[in-house]
Amino acid sequence: MLGGMDVLRSVIVVLHLIGFAMTLGALLEAAIRKRYEFSATMNYGLVVSLITGVFLAGPWGDYDPNYPKIGTKLVLLVVLGAVLGMGSAKQRKTGSPLPPGLFWSAVGLSVAACGVAVIW
Ligand code: HEM
Repeated sequence: MLGGMDVLRSVIVVLHLIGFAMTLGALLEAAIRKRYEFSATMNYGLVVSLITGVFLAGPWGDYDPNYPKIGTKLVLLVVLGAVLGMGSAKQRKTGSPLPPGLFWSAVGLSVAACGVAVIW
């Protein structure tokens, strides 16, 4: 049986996964449409991932956090945030689609963070 704290932590993990779903889902939507643009959903997803991730990284009774893993994900998230921020600014200025390399680097960073979370 899950105790109260475990239920709370599990709910936050679900929100953490929803954040990831928003970021990668919106990126794949754009990729499938071949419209290489960043959107607000990607940013919101990243904010959700960050806030819930910080909560999950806190002390939770007998769960002991893997800080090198968490730190790696935090770095990937910050770099992804920078890519989304730079890309969005470029988009606003030029009004044209992003260079494919910039767009796909965002996809790669998002998938890499998930890989670190699940495989490490
Ligand atoms: C885009 C960035 C991120 C992605 C895609 C991501 C993905 C995930 C996934 C899929 C899980 C579930 C893993 C499992 O249950 O096996 C998870 C768990 C977790 N995440 Fe993240 N995460 C990201 C960023 C962060 C950040 C920035 C932090 C902390 C500052 C963080 C902290 C945690 C913690 C503490 C857990 C639970 C423990 C664990 O399984 O390692 N995550 N994350």
